[in-house]
This record gives sequence, structure tokens and C-alpha cells, in this order.
Amino acid sequence: MRLEVDIKGKTFRSAAGGIQEVLAPVKFALQSGEVGVLIGPSGCGKSTMLRIILGLDPEFSGGVARPPQARIGMVFQEPRLLPWRSVEQNVRLAAPGVADAKLAELFRILELEAHRDHFPGELSLGLARRVALARAFAVEPDLLVLDEPLASLDDALASRLRDEIATLVASRPVMTLLVTHSLDDAIRLGDRLFFLSPRPARIMREVPITIPRAERSEADLGRIKGELARLQLESK
Ligand SMILES: Nc1ncnc2c1ncn2[C@@H]1O[C@H](COP(=O)(O)OP(=O)(O)OP(=O)(O)O)[C@@H](O)[C@H]1O
Ligand SMILES: [Mg+2]
Repeated sequence: MRLEVDIKGKTFRSAAGGIQEVLAPVKFALQSGEVGVLIGPSGCGKSTMLRIILGLDPEFSGGVARPPQARIGMVFQEPRLLPWRSVEQNVRLAAPGVADAKLAELFRILELEAHRDHFPGELSLGLARRVALARAFAVEPDLLVLDEPLASLDDALASRLRDEIATLVASRPVMTLLVTHSLDDAIRLGDRLFFLSPRPARIMREVPITIPRAERSEADLGRIKGELARLQLESK
């Protein structure tokens, strides 16, 4: 499977009537098994780009080719759970065919077992984000789109969940697109890093990470981080 993104441009009309250019031309493709990471300043257009890629916003110029049968798992920037449904019901509604054992495993991995019967209003933001992750993974997606999924989690939990995302992504052929402000998350999870400009977003630089995810040692990660810092200095 392959995702092809060829956005020519995107504008929003502001309430005052002005036109704001949000995306410049953005072109890239992702294969099954690849994790692409979008990194860019706040407000540059990342969430807008994800909505376009998912087909939720048809008002743009250009095209996006998603595999027609692709199952999609999405974690929005806000968890977006149905408030009148329990945690378990929220996940089951998105993934009606999910096996009980699979659901139990996801709840165990994401440390949600004690919260199955809770309602979204009873959850902290970090718990709600984990439910959103459980929901995205329960779908067994071919295309997984994660918009800052680890924001507002404490460091220890964020790093555990980052490892779990890596494990889940490695367990099946999935195209993953991750938005993050964390360089650590980017270099641990990503295969290709796309550095975006301020609005209107365009890809300023694409950095591939050639060492397979599971084989990156702490020394490799330190070196990659150093290289990225050097590249960013060069581009200033
Ligand atoms: N529905 C909308 N109508 C008008 N303008 C919008 C709309 N959605 C987003 N924008 C504007 O588009 C720009 C990009 O927003 P977007 O949410 O895509 O940024 P982002 O890169 O995801 O930022 P962040 O890192 O803070 O999440 C912003 O200037 C925002 O104000
Ligand atoms: Mg955003």
C-alpha cells in the first residue's frame, strides 16, 4: 500500500473576510511499514494537512491518493471521545470487529484496564489520549495518523507509550504519519522526518533515518540528534 500526497495549496477564509494561505505545495509518499514524521512550528498547518490527507477536508487544491480499501486509525490532537459512551464502548464503536482478547491486550498495554467502564468526563487528558490511541490501534489500521499523541503525558508514561507505538507499528504493515514537537519521539519512531516551514507549510527538509527502528542504539540516537541540530543551524 502507498499513500501519495500532492497538495498544491490550501487557504482559509477568516471570519473577518481575509484569505489566509495555510499550506504551500507539499508532496511526499509513504509506503507500508514506513513512519513519516511532520515537525514544524505551532500554527504552520500540520493538523490541517492531516485532515486533508484523511479526506476530512475536501477544500484544497491538489490531490491525495489513499489506497481505496485502507483502514484508517486516527488520533486527533484533542482526544474526541463520545462523552455519553464508556471507554470500552468508544473503542468498540470505532472497531466493531475487534476481538475481546485484542481489546484486553490494548487496554493492558495502554494501562486502561481500570477505566473500561469510565466515561470520558471522568478521565484526565492523559487517560483520554490513551483511549484515543486504543481506539486507533483497535481498528488494525493500514494508515495510522497521530497528531501529537504523547502531548500532556508525563515523561515516563510518554516514553513507555512511545515504545508501545513502536511495537504496535512494527507488528503489522502500516503507513504511519506522526505529528510531534519532540525531536526524541521523531528520531525514535520515524523513518523519514519532514521539517516544515512556518505557515504556509512546505517541506523545508526531508531527513531519512536509515538504521531500522528496532536497531537504533542510544549512541545512534545521540548521533542522529547531533546531526539534526547541525542541519538546523546550517539552515538558519
Ligand atoms: N477551520 C479553520 N478556519 C480558519 N482558519 C483555520 C481553521 N483551522 C485552522 N486554521 C488556521 O490555519 C493555521 C494552521 O492551523 P493548524 O491547526 O493546521 O496548525 P498546526 O500546525 O497543527 O499547529 P499546532 O502545532 O499548534 O497544533 C492556523 O493559522 C489556524 O489559525
Ligand atoms: Mg495541530
